[in-house]
Amino acid sequence: MKKVLMVDGIDSICETILRQRGFQPVVKNNIGAEELKCCIGQYEAIILRSATTLSKDIIETAVNLRAVARAGAGVDNIDVDACTRRNILVMNVPFGNIVSTAEYAVAMIMALARHIPQANVSTHAGKWEKKKFMGTEITGKTLGVIGCGNVGSIVVDRARGLKMEVLVYDPALTNGRAAGLGAELTSLDELYARSDFITYHVALSESTKGMLNSSSISRMKNGVRIVNCARGGIMVEEDVKAALVSRKIAALAVDVYLKEPAKEHIFFGMPNVIATPHIAASTEDAQVRVSQAAAEQISDYLLSGKKTCAVNGDRIK
Ligand code: MLT
Repeated sequence: MKKVLMVDGIDSICETILRQRGFQPVVKNNIGAEELKCCIGQYEAIILRSATTLSKDIIETAVNLRAVARAGAGVDNIDVDACTRRNILVMNVPFGNIVSTAEYAVAMIMALARHIPQANVSTHAGKWEKKKFMGTEITGKTLGVIGCGNVGSIVVDRARGLKMEVLVYDPALTNGRAAGLGAELTSLDELYARSDFITYHVALSESTKGMLNSSSISRMKNGVRIVNCARGGIMVEEDVKAALVSRKIAALAVDVYLKEPAKEHIFFGMPNVIATPHIAASTEDAQVRVSQAAAEQISDYLLSGKKTCAVNGDRIK
């Protein structure tokens, strides 16, 4: 029986589907790099989220591996080139968690506007700091959405429903599509100059790496509030910290970090930072969807060669 490894807390629906299709699923959550390196040779496929890194080193020992499914959108934790060299198909599940991630970004905007996490901690501590937590309305405020793909476009829709003015920057977007979403397509500089809130919804790539840095921050409004539920690597974290200290950035809500898991971080303890542990996509709804899709994609490929949402499909024989 072909063995499929599941790591990173994939929903049990994945296991059920794999068994029904004649595979032997093996669940190993919280697996470290060394253990993974030792055991990956036994498996024909692996299904993972963002916690496990599939590095070149690990892939080189994966002698029986034919497919990798990322139960989510980003494949930046997988060395896709190393997989391609070994003829291993890499697939993602780009749509299953987009609503959850977009809703989370909107929740972060609300939390930033009204200091909800900080007020919660203070109230639990027996303080009654009514004056401390003066907020701002979001109605009529300008939201800049950087990246208007699967997640960004849902954020635009929800923000319009909340009566925000929405600017979008996305090189792949047309004026017509932006207008259809109720947003205004702008240049990056114009978005920086006009936005009260900015939220990032871009994949990590050579062009987005470090794009939130001292230079881009200097072009933003004083007191801008920023949400990053995309990837830690799009920020130069030291530059963001400096801008939070000077209050050029009034507040940051961050769910993703350059190095994860982030047990220590330069943002931690800052009063104007809301920090969460990469949970934007962590809803039961999304996790069932992505786990089911990953199981189906892996079993389809191993049983019939069908490639779904393959990121290196054209290079795999
Ligand atoms: C994704 O890439 O889909 C998100 O980062 C969510 C996840 O952690 O799986």
